[in-house]
Amino acid sequence: MTTPPSLEAIAQAIRSCTRCPLHRTRRNPVPGEGPADAAVMLVGEAPGYYEDRSGRPFVGAAGRVLDEMLAIAGLRRDQVFITNIIKCRPPGNRDPKPEELRACQPYLRDQILAIDPRVIVTLGRFSMAYFLPGAKISQVHGRPVRRGDRWIVPMYHPAVALYRPPLRAVMEADYRALGQALRAWGILPDASPSSQEVS
Ligand code: URA
Repeated sequence: MTTPPSLEAIAQAIRSCTRCPLHRTRRNPVPGEGPADAAVMLVGEAPGYYEDRSGRPFVGAAGRVLDEMLAIAGLRRDQVFITNIIKCRPPGNRDPKPEELRACQPYLRDQILAIDPRVIVTLGRFSMAYFLPGAKISQVHGRPVRRGDRWIVPMYHPAVALYRPPLRAVMEADYRALGQALRAWGILPDASPSSQEVS
C-alpha cells in the first residue's frame, strides 16, 4: 500500500492548486487545521469571507457557533481537525459547483487517509452528500452512521443556528449526544466521578 502524503504536503498542494477556477478569485486557500492524529475530523462546506482573508477554517460567525457546539460535546477546537469539502472560497459565498467539488475531492480523500480519524462530523449538506449520498439532513442529523472502521456523524451547518434560531436547541441536543457517543466509543474520557455526584 502506498503511504498517503503528509498533512503538510497536502496543505502545500492546496496552496498552489489551480485545478478549478476558484483559484483565480481566492485570497487564501484554506486547507484546514488541527492535530495530525485527531480522532475527530469536522468537514464543513467552503471558506467564507473571513476564512478567505485568514486562510483558516471557521473563523467567522459560524465558527463562533461551532466553538459553542464543540464545547457542548466536551471538545475543544484544538483537539479536532477542521476542514471543508471545498478549500477555496466561492465568490459571494455561492454554492460550490459540481466540477469544483470534483476537483477538490482528492485533497479531502488524502487528508482522511493521512489523519485516519475515528469519527467524521459533516457540517452541512455538501459535506454530508459526499459521505452519505441521498441522506436528508432533517431526517439523519445527529445520528452516527458506521462506515467501515469509522463513524460518520451528520450535523446541521453551524450557520443554521444564525438564520434559523429555533434549530439551535436541536443542534445543541445533537452535540450533547455526540459527546455521549464519544465517551461510549472511548474517544473522550468518562465524566469525572465528582461530576456524577448527586448532591
Ligand atoms: N462555513 C464553512 O462551511 N466553512 C468555513 O470554513 C466557514 C464557514
